[in-house]
Amino acid sequence: MSAIHIDEASGSDDTGKGTPDLAYQSLAFAVYTHPTASYLIRKDASGTYEEPTQSSLKKAKKGADGIEKKRKKAEELAEREAKEKTEERERREKLIEESKKIVLQEDASLPAAKKAKLVGLAELRGQRIRVRGWVHRLRDQKGIIFVVLRDGTGYLQCVLSGQVAQTYEALTLTLESTIELTGSLQELPEGKTAPGGHELSVDYWKVLGAAPGAEEAFTNRLNEQSDASIQADLRHLVIRGETASAILKLRAALLSSFRDSYAAHNLLEVTPPCMVQTQVEGGATLFKFEYYGQQAFLTQSSQLYLETCLPSLGDVFCIQESFRAENSHTRRHLSEYTHLEAELAFIDFEELMSHIENTICEVVDRLLENPSSAALIKQLNPTFEKPARPFKRLNYVDAIKWLNEHGIQHELEDADGNVVKDEQGNSKMVDHAVGDDIAEAAERRMTDILGTPIFLYGFPAELKAFYMKKIPSQSGDGPVFTESCDLLMPGVGEIVGGSMRIADMEELIVAYGREGIDPAAYYWFTDQRKYGTCEHGGYGLGVERFLAWLAKRYTVRECSLYPRWPGRATP
Ligand code: 4AD
Repeated sequence: MSAIHIDEASGSDDTGKGTPDLAYQSLAFAVYTHPTASYLIRKDASGTYEEPTQSSLKKAKKGADGIEKKRKKAEELAEREAKEKTEERERREKLIEESKKIVLQEDASLPAAKKAKLVGLAELRGQRIRVRGWVHRLRDQKGIIFVVLRDGTGYLQCVLSGQVAQTYEALTLTLESTIELTGSLQELPEGKTAPGGHELSVDYWKVLGAAPGAEEAFTNRLNEQSDASIQADLRHLVIRGETASAILKLRAALLSSFRDSYAAHNLLEVTPPCMVQTQVEGGATLFKFEYYGQQAFLTQSSQLYLETCLPSLGDVFCIQESFRAENSHTRRHLSEYTHLEAELAFIDFEELMSHIENTICEVVDRLLENPSSAALIKQLNPTFEKPARPFKRLNYVDAIKWLNEHGIQHELEDADGNVVKDEQGNSKMVDHAVGDDIAEAAERRMTDILGTPIFLYGFPAELKAFYMKKIPSQSGDGPVFTESCDLLMPGVGEIVGGSMRIADMEELIVAYGREGIDPAAYYWFTDQRKYGTCEHGGYGLGVERFLAWLAKRYTVRECSLYPRWPGRATP
């Protein structure tokens, strides 16, 4: 038999074979694996293979004994662990067999239980209550089972010990099962924490709807590491989470606050239609459909309908879905979003901007005054501070100057709107000029640098919708500007778009022509100017964008119950 080779520098005891090409690294290992062989050893590739000295062989034999000892120990440990595992399995099987014999009976001598929701339980401390909900968290600690129950209104820690923790249902309970628990509600002792500062000491309980375990277990379908497309497919399960549900709760509080604020200022809520036959914000972003043989659209904005309400109802608002076929995949665009729009009569442009600022600040104040919405803001956006007033106002022309002074450029586009690229395939960047649209990226950078809410106002008519009022008394040269404003928020960008509207009928007819709109379909909108016109203005606020700002969310997709974006309409 040929000698076993050892190279102390480049050999390996793991992958080596003891050949000259694949030498071992240690003599001890060589002796351990080939006790009767002869050996050739070298320090490294620069040396030659030689027979080991007697003393190093002696040392290596000791080392080989050590390796054998280690192996034996590991084998013993593995055996012991396997045995323990079997014992544990047998113990559990036995426990489960035993558990099947335990049938819980509600103790009729206990006080009658009060059916309760998990919100506002503090008043029921010391009493016997019955609650129902989903198993949000589950922990077994030496035979005592801790369940955090969730019912949508809140969370409650429930403690099962003794017989109630030994039933078959208790031993096989899974996350997201629905259960009903009865017991006494106790204030937590000093130093312990649980939601609401109390816990339920359970004396009777049952499973209402068991959720699967093993492969099909909830956490196997969805967990924090699940990738974005799985999260989107499983949105119905995602919303059970603490963060997603907190966002939806804050959203509800936000809508209530807007309604309360509008009611306090005599704006009346109306519900305009979603199926319409007129465009508001340009034909390119209309979702079209066939409506009993006619063409119809999903509404882009309820503004035109709100305008028609002014003579009958005074100032109005609506909270209605708007639809935009924008094919935008950005973190602030949805194909369907909740649009909060208001329209006010007999105001001027300055009053319009003040009203928007007042409304937003009042809504934020209301949310912070209410303990439950304040707690949600604290949970989602711990560093939230209400915006300083008055909001910064920045004229469009000054904004263009500001962007250029700060080296914020935009992509050059050719006449067809295609981005111009250089030989390396990089977009060609150029300074902004008056008349340019301020693109999302530039707008966002400006907002983030300034770090406060900004009213950007006075956009060129060319860039804006047909209905916007022009700034009076402008000289004949250069672009015509409008009484329009966008409210930009740090982190999100535009959350509100508003303007004064053309009040003069002739001017409106000209504006239809510029947009290539057939006035016939807009007869009802034109009539507003015919039968008692008035100076008026209004705005639209993207609810998901406002919420993204308030709750500091990365994308508006987190702020919608079931968000829709290009390619996504499920669930
Ligand atoms: O600026 P926009 O297009 O204005 C209008 O529709 C006006 N007719 C509103 C009015 O004056 N009554 O949209 C208003 C707001 C934007 O500022 C933005 O917050 C939101 O609606 N928005 C969107 N939100 C999510 N996804 C989209 N694709 C959005 N498009 C607009």
